[in-house]
Amino acid sequence: MDYTQPMILETIILAAGRGTRMFSSRPKVLHELSKKPMLGYVLDAAEKLDSDHIHVVYGHGGEQVKDKFSSHSINWVHQSEQKGTGHAVAQAMPSVNDNAVVLILYGDVPLIRPATLSPLVQLAARKKLALLTIELDEPASLGRVIRDHQNNIVAITEFKDATQSEREIREINTGVMAVQASDLRQWLTQIDDNNVQKEFYLTDIVKLAVNDGVPVISIQAETELEITGVNSKLELGKLERMHQNQTALELMKRGLTISDPSRFDLRGQLEFGEDCYVDVNTLIEGDCQLGKNVHIGPNCIIKHSKISDNTHIEAFSLIEDSVIGAGCHVGPYARLRPGSELKEGSRIGNFVEIKNSTIGKNSKANHLSYVGDAQVGNDVNMGAGMITCNYDGANKHQTIIGDNVHVGSDCQLVAPVEIDDGATIGAGTTVYKNAPKDELTINKKEQYVLKGWKRPQKNK
Ligand code: UD1
Ligand code: CA
Repeated sequence: MDYTQPMILETIILAAGRGTRMFSSRPKVLHELSKKPMLGYVLDAAEKLDSDHIHVVYGHGGEQVKDKFSSHSINWVHQSEQKGTGHAVAQAMPSVNDNAVVLILYGDVPLIRPATLSPLVQLAARKKLALLTIELDEPASLGRVIRDHQNNIVAITEFKDATQSEREIREINTGVMAVQASDLRQWLTQIDDNNVQKEFYLTDIVKLAVNDGVPVISIQAETELEITGVNSKLELGKLERMHQNQTALELMKRGLTISDPSRFDLRGQLEFGEDCYVDVNTLIEGDCQLGKNVHIGPNCIIKHSKISDNTHIEAFSLIEDSVIGAGCHVGPYARLRPGSELKEGSRIGNFVEIKNSTIGKNSKANHLSYVGDAQVGNDVNMGAGMITCNYDGANKHQTIIGDNVHVGSDCQLVAPVEIDDGATIGAGTTVYKNAPKDELTINKKEQYVLKGWKRPQKNK
């Protein structure tokens, strides 16, 4: 390689396997880890490494896979028949630059880290065949790394082709490797399917490299997690738990208090300030942000939301696409639907649903309410059971509540309607006309007493 030229990196991701053991019509690499398709993680890693081109070798369900990743710049390579990893890589080679370094990744090995891959790429840039290997206590049916007396790698033997003594070797081939494109191209023409599985093994290039005097160098993966492939729902579930644990530990290292890392799930990104606390069984999805000293009680679900300093979210609350100000109190059992905005110091209590509404500073809806399509001012009290009737059966309408309004219990606000600043609405009122400033608005209802009325008795 000419060192005056910048290195070209071509990443080939193998993803053509049928995934029979998933028992699914969905292509294996679209099965999700923490709500993101496995192939998405591998593409992220390839992009973080600044790959010049990313080739994805696909087989079954290609259209589904292409649709899912249409926003990425990918050279899609179809492998119509799965004749082995060597054959799969060969399908991508016609579009690979001869002066490039080729990095081989797998669509069903999602947690591979760029930090592990870049030394492999660097070695390949210096004309080595670089393999990612790891020693396992239970190497199972993975390919074994064969070394000579000088400890140099001389071959990789597939488990099915291995002798008993080779099977006792604990160092295995992860499958991830980096190599010069020109060497790879030439070796791929020399491999055959003369083996137990009748497949073209990519791993056979190791022997060819040794024959050609190309040094074969291994890098040890730090953790089993990042080299673990998924072949079944059982393996996917195990990897999910391991991944979640690792995520929880990383967040804890960065200062988040998680009461029990084994009962924490993040399916996205979480930013947080000092002294935040997350209780058990909380699920956080999408991009979420917590300010300082935010407290999240047990069994909450928070999606795509921002929560500011000193706010408490109590148990069993569900918060989605919402923005919550500082010093608020939400729940238990609150539901904030998309478009909810709570200003500083507001309180949303149990069995209260808010949708597409702004609740002003220090305003409260503490019990059993529905607030939809409403603009609520500051210092408003919404009594128990107050609801906005925002839907007339065809269209949605707005409710506007000014500052310092007091709405009594069990009121219906029939939108479109406005309640002016300082107004008071008597309990049980159906507000269907605008309520004026500083006045008491009530529906007149009379209370009768039916003398001598008898309560029905249970039949004997
Ligand atoms: C492969 C390695 C083995 C290694 C193991 C790690 C070979 C010959 N063996 O074995 O040394 O220990 O991975 O998991 O490379 N694929 C295609 N097209 C094909 C065949 C496979 O795209 O024709 C893809 C599969 O989707 C899968 C990956 O390549 O993602 C590995 O294929 P698989 O058949 O599972 O290889 P292993 O036998 O596990
Ligand atoms: Ca495999």
